[in-house]
Amino acid sequence: MTSATATQTSPGPKHNIEAIREEYYQRIAKHDMTPLWKVMASVVTKEPVTRAAPVIWKYDDIKRLVMESGGLITAEEAERRVLILENPGMRGQSKATNTLFAGVQMILPGEVAPAHRHVSSAIRFVLDGAGAYTAVEGEKSYMAPGDFVITANWAPHDHGNTSEQPMLWLDVLDFPQVNFFEASFAEQFGHATQSTSRADGDSLAFYGSGVLPDGTPARPNSSPVINYTYARTRPIIERMLKAGDIDKRHGARVRYANPINGGPVLPTMGANLAMFPAGFKGESYRATDGTIFVCAEGKGTTTVDGQVLEWGPWDVFVVPPWKRYSHQVEKQSVLFSISDRPSQEALGIWREEATAH
Ligand SMILES: [Fe+2]
Repeated sequence: MTSATATQTSPGPKHNIEAIREEYYQRIAKHDMTPLWKVMASVVTKEPVTRAAPVIWKYDDIKRLVMESGGLITAEEAERRVLILENPGMRGQSKATNTLFAGVQMILPGEVAPAHRHVSSAIRFVLDGAGAYTAVEGEKSYMAPGDFVITANWAPHDHGNTSEQPMLWLDVLDFPQVNFFEASFAEQFGHATQSTSRADGDSLAFYGSGVLPDGTPARPNSSPVINYTYARTRPIIERMLKAGDIDKRHGARVRYANPINGGPVLPTMGANLAMFPAGFKGESYRATDGTIFVCAEGKGTTTVDGQVLEWGPWDVFVVPPWKRYSHQVEKQSVLFSISDRPSQEALGIWREEATAH
């Protein structure tokens, strides 16, 4: 250790001060210290700074390229046969936004994606196919396009396809958040599929029907419902649309909720489903949660920070945090969206701004 006594450096002539400071910075670096005043503006920014870019993945490309992977590796060999949708602003980091992973998974007829569990929570938004299932905590849920399936923290899950056609879905996971806290755990099970103890739809019937099994905890951390089916959710936004309950920015929109306490479906990720009438021209909006959108029906554009993203069925696109955006819709359309808003709200940092300045 060198002396802890501060070296007295009286401010010298201006042309000397930089050299004196630099010598000081080098000296304190040897003690693993560095001056805040040199980095203050970049670590405490006046407004959100994001490396995520607005980006769209067209479903034609997704399907063609994901299908090609089917000939290269089996689902079991890959454990999960997924192509990562990687934000071009953050290549090599397996992220769609700074806090969310997104990927498209495919299961071919007869394949299984073996049982495992992890601390990261996951959701699936089904894009294509019918008759494949996700088994979560003993319930095997068959999936159809537009279904929203959740796999909570540490819930054992596996997937299988008993149909005659490939099935593709969007996976979104919170592992960038879990890894930020350096708190990830995962484990594989010795058997490919878990035994099922509940029937398809049990969790929705038990917990999403206005009654609850006796003894259900009042404040579960995540929703007990495994599959929020499109068949059940779509008619609700259609009713809202017909009733004129249409937000000027977000359309006729519902939030997927934990039916027990009204909270988000997962502590780290929140999702919405919105229907827009033909000709909708949305007002601009921004919020601090970077959002992944999926078009479930229709055709339109979303303008993000001046960039126009043209979308159609099953295209996936990203609106980065605090980028001003608006939706314009040609024909009646449905957009699914998911973001890290629940995490930000829990931490008290989420902000939105609805009016342009
Ligand atoms: Fe998983």
